[in-house]
Amino acid sequence: MDGPADTRMMGIVHDALRRDLARTRAALGGPVPESRRRTLVAHVDWMMDFLHAHHEGEDTGLYPMVRAANPGTGALLDAMAADHAAIDPAVDALRAAAARFAASDAARAELRDALTALEDVLLPHLEREEAEAMPVVSATITHGQWHDWDQEHNIKPKSLPRLAEEGNWLMDGLDPARRAVVEAEVPWVPRMVVLYGFGPGYRRRAAARWAGAAVEAAS
Ligand SMILES: [Fe+2]
Ligand SMILES: [Fe+2]
Repeated sequence: MDGPADTRMMGIVHDALRRDLARTRAALGGPVPESRRRTLVAHVDWMMDFLHAHHEGEDTGLYPMVRAANPGTGALLDAMAADHAAIDPAVDALRAAAARFAASDAARAELRDALTALEDVLLPHLEREEAEAMPVVSATITHGQWHDWDQEHNIKPKSLPRLAEEGNWLMDGLDPARRAVVEAEVPWVPRMVVLYGFGPGYRRRAAARWAGAAVEAAS
């Protein structure tokens, strides 16, 4: 815990977002029956809630802590905050387009465009954050500080069903080494509940959402 912050979880979280944005795009490429339209849209909203909470945790917890420990990081952290601010309107536009798509397949092209517009601002940010900000975070705070931030901002405010959904979503298709990183964050008893209590439900919902072909197209 006294060593440098292990920031691998940031890349895992970002990859889950990249994966399901790609799956959403692939799903929009084929026929989408009305019931699946609503399922897809509910998941887009869920992901946008997750993304909002993720950015809030960085803006109000992680980056202020890094800035306080080393004011020299200010310019880089200002750039991260500016990225987050530029992503917000694209998130709102995606939610609005998704709601119209839930009501009518006629909004499909609009939803695809909104997805592209979000990816245009989000994907470069995720990359910059991994390549430029995370090495600075590791060099500035300890793993203990990183862990405390994660608990305070990303774990404690959420209910067990929410955390279980997020955990299974993060581990969806993840390689064993990175899966172990996620599992290590959860004590043994809740880990068993997440994996075996909530896992089958997550997999059932994911299979219904993506209808198989879309998952393959994204992997
Ligand atoms: Fe992030
Ligand atoms: Fe970020």
